[in-house]
Amino acid sequence: MIVYFNGKYIPQDEVKISPYDRGFHFADGVYEALRSYNGKLFRVDSHLRRLKYSLSELNIKLDDINKFESVSYHLAELNKILPDDFSVYIQITRGVQFPRKHNYDDDLSPTVFVSVSKLKDNSEQLEKGVKVILEEDIRWTRCDIKSISLLPSIMAKTKAVNLDAYEAVFHRDDLITEGSHTNFFAVKKGVVYTAPLSNFILEGITREVIIELCIKNKIKIEEEYIKVSDIKNYEEFFITGTTTEITPVIQIDDWMFGDGLPGKLTRVLQKYFREHVNSFN
Ligand code: PDD
Repeated sequence: MIVYFNGKYIPQDEVKISPYDRGFHFADGVYEALRSYNGKLFRVDSHLRRLKYSLSELNIKLDDINKFESVSYHLAELNKILPDDFSVYIQITRGVQFPRKHNYDDDLSPTVFVSVSKLKDNSEQLEKGVKVILEEDIRWTRCDIKSISLLPSIMAKTKAVNLDAYEAVFHRDDLITEGSHTNFFAVKKGVVYTAPLSNFILEGITREVIIELCIKNKIKIEEEYIKVSDIKNYEEFFITGTTTEITPVIQIDDWMFGDGLPGKLTRVLQKYFREHVNSFN
């Protein structure tokens, strides 16, 4: 694979990263993940806005964030992925600093890496739905920043996978925040619920699309916390994300509901979502 590394397009084996990179030492960096539909990057402006936000919250200075759009297309071309759709991973760390010390100097040059991949077929998951597990949210209180420091998320996701689940859904005490790499939604009496935007969740771009689609199609949507103690009073659940799209949830821990089938409103939203991305170019 050809990747983009600090301004150059090179084979991935030729990437050399210093052991003094602050990303390596401290996970001092941010990332962004996006994808294409019909060969075109979906909501690229929203993703780049979120990337700028993450960088500025951590005081990492990088000019010309908009270049990542053309870099992504160029990588898809160089790797001969087009006309298939592709995902893009962008990672920026604060840069190299020697010797190792916790506080950062202001004059570092960020380390920039971009790769593209072919998307995996997720049609079975979209059709059948998945199991999720509930986990205490032990992450920091700046989950609005897309930091590469992901230990609690990878621990929870790995536990989920080991229990034959697709995702771990976090809760802070009684309040459900989001999945380890997705946003979480529930449906009660025809109303869609998801956690409000705050420092406790990532502002998911797919979440934003779902809210728009609900408003457009006159489906009531409330940005209100779903409570663990109240979970059995909801009828449907789904998770959303760039590559997860709208994935129905059919089991939470040992609780199986809805005859093991995706919910009706979840299906309707999947259909609106599909129409939306198909009409996009
Ligand atoms: N994850 N919440 C968290 C914690 C996430 O990491 C993600 C995205 C989302 C969904 O955001 P979006 O709809 O913009 O993809 C919510 C990416 C895909 C990842 O970690 O690879």
